[in-house]
Amino acid sequence: MGVKTELLSILEANRERDLSGEEIAGQLGVSRTSVWKAVKALREEGYQIGAANNRGYRLQESTDILSAEGIRLRLGEAFQDLPIEVCKRVDSTNTELKKRALDGGVHGLTLLAEEQTGGKGRLGRSFYSPPGTGIYMSILLRPEVTGADAVLITTAASVAVCRGIRNVLGIETQIKWVNDIYYEDKKICGILTEAISDFELGRIDSVVVGIGINYQTDDFPDELQARAGCIGRGSGIPRNWLVASILEEFWNIYENLTGREFMEEYRGRSNVIGKEIRFLERGSWREAVARDIDHNGGLIVEYKGEDGEPLRRTLHTGEITLRVL
Ligand code: BTN
Repeated sequence: MGVKTELLSILEANRERDLSGEEIAGQLGVSRTSVWKAVKALREEGYQIGAANNRGYRLQESTDILSAEGIRLRLGEAFQDLPIEVCKRVDSTNTELKKRALDGGVHGLTLLAEEQTGGKGRLGRSFYSPPGTGIYMSILLRPEVTGADAVLITTAASVAVCRGIRNVLGIETQIKWVNDIYYEDKKICGILTEAISDFELGRIDSVVVGIGINYQTDDFPDELQARAGCIGRGSGIPRNWLVASILEEFWNIYENLTGREFMEEYRGRSNVIGKEIRFLERGSWREAVARDIDHNGGLIVEYKGEDGEPLRRTLHTGEITLRVL
């Protein structure tokens, strides 16, 4: 680890106090000049590091830059070896991780970006990903699960995001089937899970779970303005803290994914169950009532058949667009 990276870890770990150049130099076993150079380099990257009245160095509260060091500091012992990478700008963290998967990327590799120039949503939509205000994160999995169980990964990620938000920001969010997270009736997070199949072996080779959270974002394009919201504005809590909590929650659930213990919470957070809905399927809309979510994450709906008789069926993720009426 270079001096700059180590300095960042120290500053992140001591956000609440000033550190003298001497103290940092002592901890790192380097000269004060090296510390000063590393401070300068971090400042050039956008970190606001105060050194008022010679009191010492401290990360300003307004500094909210994603970094592997800042995330790792908030991760428990069991998660210290998670491979985490942060980049400034990428087309899409999902697309990038899918490339890495083909290049032998390891299970658990997590990629975050400050900005996505081609952020992707479900059903070919785009995901608005302006710089510095959101969390755009993808996790590469080499799952040992069947296709059916792989569907659970998305569901698990939704619950992990809700738990992370509760842990760090103290607020409760709802899940709109299948994997949009809502706060105060606005969408604040979307999840896009993509699989790479090994056709020859007839199994799933890897899965990329992409999580996009509007954290400070509030300047949405006109078409999103009415439906999109953000979750962290004015909280003073760095995005790194939320990322760490979501990762911990995700891996805790993933450990026993097929045990499905998290499904109860998924149902409990649903803002769809019991509601009248409309779903788009192969080009036509159908009105129904959402009754429940089954143990595989399918949405059980009830609607009237041709002759007015009540029909029940289970919707699966994929090609379904859903509106709550
Ligand atoms: C949706 O709302 O339909 C899903 C949005 C998923 C967005 C995330 S951001 C990180 C990852 N990279 C992408 O291009 N998309 C996902």
